[in-house]
Amino acid sequence: MIGKLNHVGVATPSISEALKVYQGMLGATSVTETLLLPEFGVAVCFVNLPNSQIELLEPLGEGSVISAFLEKNPRGGQHHVCFEVDDILAARDDLRAKGAEILGSGEPRIGAHGVPVIFVHPKDMGGVLVELMQTPSTAHK
Ligand code: CO
Repeated sequence: MIGKLNHVGVATPSISEALKVYQGMLGATSVTETLLLPEFGVAVCFVNLPNSQIELLEPLGEGSVISAFLEKNPRGGQHHVCFEVDDILAARDDLRAKGAEILGSGEPRIGAHGVPVIFVHPKDMGGVLVELMQTPSTAHK
């Protein structure tokens, strides 16, 4: 089921401050425009790496999906990892059948890449919040 690592999610109280680390300290040369995702209560910006991306997540409004995380980690930190899967619904059903809890309603939502995503509870994933994202090239299926 599991495919490529698509990105690593990093929560931050400030994307512009986080960019000082990735651009200023680590020398990243390519970042995307900041995108607002009100459905998730986050603003996101991707740092492009040769083989992957870092997804910077800043809270947007009330009820952000990262507000509890930032309460525990006020300066931000590594929040989730995202793997690509060919078929998001098949992956969800397979994980559920194996006893894993899918967060929220369990229905895939359109994420920052414009393809359906789900999140799997960290208690079932060795302590890691796992995002599964339908591989962009198969999103139309
Ligand atoms: Co993500």
